[in-house]
Amino acid sequence: MSESTSKPVLSIQDLVVEFKTEAGLIRALDGVSFDVQEGEALGIVGESGCGKSVTALSILKLIPSPPGRIAGGSIKLDDIDVVNQPDDEMRKVRGSLASMIFQEPMTALNPVFTIGNQMVEIIRVHQKVSKAEAKRQAIEMLRTVNIESPEQRIDQYPHELSGGMRQRVMIAMALSCSPKLLIADEPTTALDVTVQAQVMEEINRLQREMNMGLILITHDLGVIAESCTRVVVMYCGKIIEMAETEELFRNPRHPYTRGLLDSIPRIREKKLETLPIIEGMVPDLANLPKGCRFADRCPKAEDHCRESEPPLEDTESGGKVACFIPN
Ligand SMILES: Nc1ncnc2c1ncn2[C@@H]1O[C@H](COP(=O)(O)OP(=O)(O)OP(=O)(O)O)[C@@H](O)[C@H]1O
Ligand SMILES: [Mg+2]
Repeated sequence: MSESTSKPVLSIQDLVVEFKTEAGLIRALDGVSFDVQEGEALGIVGESGCGKSVTALSILKLIPSPPGRIAGGSIKLDDIDVVNQPDDEMRKVRGSLASMIFQEPMTALNPVFTIGNQMVEIIRVHQKVSKAEAKRQAIEMLRTVNIESPEQRIDQYPHELSGGMRQRVMIAMALSCSPKLLIADEPTTALDVTVQAQVMEEINRLQREMNMGLILITHDLGVIAESCTRVVVMYCGKIIEMAETEELFRNPRHPYTRGLLDSIPRIREKKLETLPIIEGMVPDLANLPKGCRFADRCPKAEDHCRESEPPLEDTESGGKVACFIPN
């Protein structure tokens, strides 16, 4: 791993995020730690509700509060201490040092303004430039994300664009101030299958060209395999495995990771195989079992696994796994 030589653009240590809910206080993140190096693409996978989006939102200090709060740990973005950063300072950090693209671009774009208006505004929040110069930069950025005739497109409203084009606009906006870290939370899920691959290619290309750190959040391990060099696997608010992508695919250590990999559809003999999904339900965060959170669904669980929680420990292949009986 090149970790020792390069500098982390993001470093998260023991992050704890809590939400007040009707069922009581829940820990959506419970001691999450990982780094992202300059120019590195890191994938985060895990079933719905495991804490992927909460992790992403925490990095930009966007956890809705109340009901949520960062209850412990630290987040360092470059040299900035996110947890203790005042809100007005964080506004400057968002977009310039780190930016985020979401699943549904329509929710992030304002329907009553042209995309040009919105891009110009973002650029001018971060740079002291004239409107004309900001517009020139916005057109350039639209061209960078492969939008044809950007001079015309810039005066259109979000609803005049296709879903794929809107997501490209979101990417252009997110990258307009050359952030060091891009967080993409299910960036292609809402798009047509044919457009998904194109948008992912765009993200990958820009990430390499701009040497940005990338956090790619997805349910789809197939997408991670093509885009990321390292993977974090989350379950119930914890990291249960972390490894270089190749290693994770070749030799998944946690039974949960193995289950996720086994549920990737494969095409064999020209037929799409339906593969097993992991049986059972994710436990309720308000009512967690004693011991390993995966034990009830785990084919390998022993009594010991239901008694105490396995810590996240180094593997001999340079990754980490939280399991008493890893593969
Ligand atoms: N605003 C909120 N209020 C209360 N609880 C919340 C809130 N946002 C998140 N949570 C809790 O945090 C947990 C993690 O949510 P998160 O959105 O990070 O899941 P996720 O991994 O992104 O899932 P998905 O794949 O469905 O997007 C949820 O199970 C939920 O209980
Ligand atoms: Mg999510």
